[in-house]
Amino acid sequence: AHSGGVVIVSNRAPVTFSRSGSGERTHSRGAGGLVTALNAVSRRAEGAVWIASAASDEDVRVARESEGPCEVDDLRLVLVEHDAGAYDLMYNRLANPLLWFVQHGLYDLPYAPELGEETLRAWEEGYLPVNRSFARAAAEAISGAEEPVVLLHDYHLYMVPELLREEVGEGPLISFFVHIPWPEPDLWRVLPSYIREGALRSLLRSDIVAFHTRRYARNFMAAASEILGAEADPARGTLRRGGREVWVRSYPISIDPAEFEEVAESPEVRREEEYVRNLPGALLVRVDRTDLSKNIVRGFRAYGRMLELHPEMRGRVTFFAQLQPSRGDIPEYAAYAEAIRRSAEEVNEAHGTPSWRPVELSMQDNFPRSVAAYKNYDALLVNAVRDGMNLVAKEAAVVNRRDGALILSENAGAHEELGEHALTVNPFDLDDQAAAIHRALTMPPEERARRARALRETVLSNTIEDWAAAQMRDIAARRAASS
Ligand code: G6P
Repeated sequence: AHSGGVVIVSNRAPVTFSRSGSGERTHSRGAGGLVTALNAVSRRAEGAVWIASAASDEDVRVARESEGPCEVDDLRLVLVEHDAGAYDLMYNRLANPLLWFVQHGLYDLPYAPELGEETLRAWEEGYLPVNRSFARAAAEAISGAEEPVVLLHDYHLYMVPELLREEVGEGPLISFFVHIPWPEPDLWRVLPSYIREGALRSLLRSDIVAFHTRRYARNFMAAASEILGAEADPARGTLRRGGREVWVRSYPISIDPAEFEEVAESPEVRREEEYVRNLPGALLVRVDRTDLSKNIVRGFRAYGRMLELHPEMRGRVTFFAQLQPSRGDIPEYAAYAEAIRRSAEEVNEAHGTPSWRPVELSMQDNFPRSVAAYKNYDALLVNAVRDGMNLVAKEAAVVNRRDGALILSENAGAHEELGEHALTVNPFDLDDQAAAIHRALTMPPEERARRARALRETVLSNTIEDWAAAQMRDIAARRAASS
């Protein structure tokens, strides 16, 4: 009984604890766009408690030491210690790669894992127990609260609504936010029935299910009605099943521009800018986790193709790729990191000269360097195969100082808002991407400035604040409708 009633649950914590050489406890920010955004929300929701997995050894120590939430950077955090074997199955076998691959349209046999008894084991001995631990932690955090609201985030937690209802009944308002694409029903049907139906059934025990775009919300409604026979009312955005009504909504996530501006002026970022600015020629940038969905290899190939088609560009541009290592225990990801290195080398071997390296690869976790690259790009490549939102496009557009152009995949959620001012690409089409890279680098300055301004204004017109506020309004309305 220690919360003001709002509980956030996500697998990834906003911070990871570690121990420095001298034995002191320190922490760094968690990976990915989701925690960046939730951070901003959590700081604003007075008294909110954030529940997440203990990931590092030091996280586990923190989890064991604390009774109730611990305070870190204005956040109230509960770290849940999972059974290590169960967590490994959940994270490395079930959520990533399986759910992630299916939902990003990467399920492409023979590269994807086969489904069979190992899948069932990962579900029963990994995904379900981890979800049960989260449900218990959420139940504890809301006990005693008058009008508890539980905000569940992302594909690691699909079974929590059902398990939480088993623990505490219909009391809490549950809002479930899916941050990754929801695919067309046929793609969702790749999954064995216990996941295909089980996850949908559980999600429909929520009061609100939310996505970043209208397209994902539509796909979800189609899946629920085709697979579970739920009654969909597309005009009202509702699904009805077993006497319950679920609101299906879209809220495009965003960033905290002021926070990014502040980071952009920090000494760490300025130091990294010296490095970035010394790279020869115009600067083409990408900033990503080393994830298959980000389409990094095809990005290098497209750039190589551009250099082939436009030899006059040789020596006049550097492609700087700041890539944060991600999910390295999963074989497909480890192989992909290798493929990234190889394809960068191939471009350098084919086009480089003694005084010019076409691709500069930085494969490390280096947030200040990412922001330094944001500030200084002439063109930013965001060519994801599919992406729930893609916050890199938004973060970068706000702090860029060079009127840089944005090359944006039509399959990134961000395209619904930013597409009009970006150079849109089909992420599968190399020639299309090569042409867009060339166009971005040779665009007349006035056009570049106009587009850059429009991008920035679009981001500023829907910030993380607006994202959170829109959800809070609907949560209040949902509560009013059911009482
Ligand atoms: C995406 C997902 C998040 C995840 C992040 C980083 O943004 O939507 O749920 O936290 O990637 O991935 P990781 O596996 O490192 O948490």
